[in-house]
Amino acid sequence: MSTGMVYLTRRERFNAAHKLWVEAWSDEKNQQMFGKCSNRNWHGHNYDLFVTVKGQPDPVTGFVMDVKELSKLIKMTIVDKVDHSNLNLDVDFIPKGMQPTTENLAILFWQQLEPHIKNCKLHSIKLYETENIYVEYFGE
Ligand code: NI
Repeated sequence: MSTGMVYLTRRERFNAAHKLWVEAWSDEKNQQMFGKCSNRNWHGHNYDLFVTVKGQPDPVTGFVMDVKELSKLIKMTIVDKVDHSNLNLDVDFIPKGMQPTTENLAILFWQQLEPHIKNCKLHSIKLYETENIYVEYFGE
């Protein structure tokens, strides 16, 4: 039997603090650009992270990937490092001075995780900062 491509998604959640701020700008301009995310004394978000891999189901297991293994890899490479952290200060893979926006986080998360995915392919990183705002990154 020939099988097609299947997309498998695992959700993980974490909480983290951040501040979006450009030093060279006035308080007013920062407030205008970043809104509440520019709050001087930090604030937090409850992030929802959706990681999707793609592949053909294994003929024996029927799995694209063992989802327990995927969950472990996401925790090891991403969630354990960002959960309950300050994204501006605490995380070794977020370059100092890079704005910890959802956009930048999605790219960095891809770079963290992608080398560990074997026997199938990482398809996307989808990251919700609030229930109404999310980004998706496909590694391109
Ligand atoms: Ni924010």
